Amino acid sequence: MQPVQPVQPVQLEPPSPQDVILVGGTGDLAQRKLLPAIYNLELDGLLPAEGQIVGFARSQRTLDAYHEFAAGSVARHSRRPFDAAAWERLRKRMHFISEADGGWAAVAEYCKLPQRLVYLATPPSAFGRIAQDLASHRLAEGTRLVIEKPFGHDLESAMALGATLHAHFDESQIFRIDHYMGKETVQNILVFRFGNSLFERAWNRDAIDHMQITIGESIGVEGRGDFYEETGALRDIVQNHALQVLSLLTMEPPVSFRAEAVRDEMVKLLHAVPPASPALAVRGQYAGGAIDESLVAGYREEPGVAPDSETETSIAMQLRIDNWRWSGVPIYLRAGKRLPRRVSEVHVVFREAPISYFEGTPISDLASNHLTLRIQPEEGISFSFMAKQPGPEVRAQQVRMNFNYGDSFMIEPQEAYERLLHDAMRGDHTLFLREDGIEQAWRIVEPVLRSPSELCFYDSGTWGPEEADQLVGPNGWHLH
Ligand code: BG6
Repeated sequence: MQPVQPVQPVQLEPPSPQDVILVGGTGDLAQRKLLPAIYNLELDGLLPAEGQIVGFARSQRTLDAYHEFAAGSVARHSRRPFDAAAWERLRKRMHFISEADGGWAAVAEYCKLPQRLVYLATPPSAFGRIAQDLASHRLAEGTRLVIEKPFGHDLESAMALGATLHAHFDESQIFRIDHYMGKETVQNILVFRFGNSLFERAWNRDAIDHMQITIGESIGVEGRGDFYEETGALRDIVQNHALQVLSLLTMEPPVSFRAEAVRDEMVKLLHAVPPASPALAVRGQYAGGAIDESLVAGYREEPGVAPDSETETSIAMQLRIDNWRWSGVPIYLRAGKRLPRRVSEVHVVFREAPISYFEGTPISDLASNHLTLRIQPEEGISFSFMAKQPGPEVRAQQVRMNFNYGDSFMIEPQEAYERLLHDAMRGDHTLFLREDGIEQAWRIVEPVLRSPSELCFYDSGTWGPEEADQLVGPNGWHLH
């Protein structure tokens, strides 16, 4: 594939003046993602020109200690190297307030601008109390509230969470993050579909046999055993990341690329997906095994995990979409931890050729065309098709055309959290989930949550239980 012209950075306006308050400002998310994202926005001149950055947490610590913590998190987790001058600019506007020492009254005293972004990097159980605190300190008005998944643990609790937040905030003030929506390659699904008329014409049940979406990780639960015991792969990945990817992949063209038009189509698509059947969902749990030649423990031996845990660390399931475009096209989703490698991909498998004209190639050797959208790593797209093998006989062989993001655009993309934080500061909802979409996603997975199928075990470092292979039928998973 030809390299394209190097991308000229787009000059965006910084967001309007506002304070940014990170609730849970000393936690894991702040340390690994939010503080490095804020630092990278500073490097790009994309923070609000005016306003404070406030770390807010339950425990007390001095301002110097907070600065040291933030500098350490940037040095360790930023995608770009630590730059002393940029850090100094950020440090000057970075403050710390503890709940024990001043609390929300101190925030109200310190953050005087009429607009603010409040990021709840806390367990969801704290959302209701914080919403109430913001309201009672007259901070609800002018606040954009950013919240992280999990948005409830089933349909009922998601609706209760919505009601709690709506007691003080209206939907236009709430930004629900699914960090997959911040990935360039996930956004590119829409550009690929609606910027290229060739594929869009074939994007339907007449041309497509089935689709496969895989979100695989080689890591285990990484010290988050307690959290994962309550969650499992279905809630952690499928209910959100995988169903968002599915919506972008199969939704109808929106009337414009404005936030509500895009979100309307995404939600409409989810409405057309019937509830998942437990009989078509294979739940797996990793046993010990080897990843990259290192031995790793099984899930039940992880800290915080019950020795007889029934939580799934992988799930494979078949869904369908009951609408005119997709009726009869199976959709296979698969997500798991301790798989052989970290890989998120979509495979769109087209219908087989009906007949083989080539003497040296029986019909069974004529592979279907398939399109691979590589979300990560090696971000890009490839298309497989049949070509003539060189030689006197007419024999067909599968070959692949490949586009690689990095080689073509020669630019390092923003991290998902940079893009999403910046969008939230500008009040752009396009990449954030809407309440009705979240409820639809819970409706789809709920039968499997309520009547979980029997757990199957797989060795760490394999692609999940064998039972998951039977789900896709004779062609198998494209990644195995
Ligand atoms: C998070 C999950 O939402 O996504 C984690 O809670 C998972 O369990 C992570 O590891 C995967 O994200 P990414 O961007 O590495 O694919």
